[in-house]
Amino acid sequence: MSKLLVTGGCGFIGSNFVRHLLQTDPTVSIINLDALTYAGNLANLADLAGHPRYQFVRGDITDRDAVRKVMKLGVTEVINFAAESHVDRSIHDSGPFVLTNVLGTQTLLDAAREFQVSKYVQVSTDEVYGSLGATGYFTEETPLAPNSPYSASKAGADALVRAYYHTFGLPAVITRCSNNYGPYQFPEKLIPLFVTNLLADLQVPVYGDGQQVRDWIHVLDHCTGVEAAWRKGRPGEVYNFGGRCEKTNLDLTHTLLDLLGKPHSLIRYVQDRLGHDRRYAIDCTKAETELGWKPQVPFAEGLRATIRWYEQNTAWVSAIRTGDYLRYYEKQYGQAA
Ligand code: NAD
Ligand code: DAU
Repeated sequence: MSKLLVTGGCGFIGSNFVRHLLQTDPTVSIINLDALTYAGNLANLADLAGHPRYQFVRGDITDRDAVRKVMKLGVTEVINFAAESHVDRSIHDSGPFVLTNVLGTQTLLDAAREFQVSKYVQVSTDEVYGSLGATGYFTEETPLAPNSPYSASKAGADALVRAYYHTFGLPAVITRCSNNYGPYQFPEKLIPLFVTNLLADLQVPVYGDGQQVRDWIHVLDHCTGVEAAWRKGRPGEVYNFGGRCEKTNLDLTHTLLDLLGKPHSLIRYVQDRLGHDRRYAIDCTKAETELGWKPQVPFAEGLRATIRWYEQNTAWVSAIRTGDYLRYYEKQYGQAA
């Protein structure tokens, strides 16, 4: 029976992963270590309160003592989702990105070594490969060329994971996925920001000319990819995941406006993101052939379901808008951070 340490389980992808795994594998138990930064929301896993195979621990992955304390609970494997994840914030201040993404990963790697876990999975990103021109795809062999402080910090973490495999034989794998969408995504990223703005008849800010391309994948497809990498990934290997679903930001914005029945006049063109990567596109052949993984959720279906989720979860959205969600820990556990 696996006792998994999942870090960052109160964020967007981590919370979807924890729920998915507990629902589909009755033999697994999960400890979720999360610092509850602005991006961590206890409400994302409120439905798991009291679940016999789930335990939440508030703690920071850069805190060696906190991490060792959790490892002593009998952790057999580690999956690291915890990160500062928003590119715009990294442009504003790269400090927290280097701390959590690089130092936090190093701390987890040391603990994984010390407690001799049987697998360590580093959830990385396609952004470490940099930007593509009009053609071509990122493969696992594409050289790393990160362009933002966010992707540079993720690439630094990937380099450490690789080094711990080569130097110490740590059974570690790295996953690199393209842009996720789905329920519980913090409304600072394109899709949840635009959907929640449009539901309130607010404008949507398109950066630059809106011709940047992203490869969209439903969060549950990413979760099954991480699961496959954890179960079947070969130590020392990297696995790319993508949705084979390239869209320009402007096309996607038009689709969102049309699905929500809103006028295109709500588009506001704003100053471009500094160093904005032009195009991401993933070749996920390796994951398909080696791990037997395939993205299952068609974009049109997944996007409609995602919009419906934000329409139906107005309390979740408004608690974020008011900042109330930051007080859930205090309310639930009776003490301040
Ligand atoms: P998120 O920002 O929604 O969640 C991050 C979580 O990590 C939050 O719960 C936060 O509280 C926690 N956290 C942050 N710093 C911490 C620390 N020092 N110690 C403990 N917990 C901490 O992020 P996400 O979008 O769910 O992304 C999860 C992972 O997947 C990240 O590593 C990200 O780089 C990677 N990724 C994201 C995408 C995407 O499209 N969102 C795509 C590919 C890879
Ligand atoms: O590719 C994987 C990455 O995808 C992850 O590693 C990151 O954690 C995740 O945040 C995401 O990064 P992006 O920068 O691609 O996502 P974001 O939603 O911030 O932006 C998507 C595109 O939309 C990007 O080209 C910038 C643009 N954009 C974004 C916002 C928030 C806008 O035009 N307007 C906006 O308001």
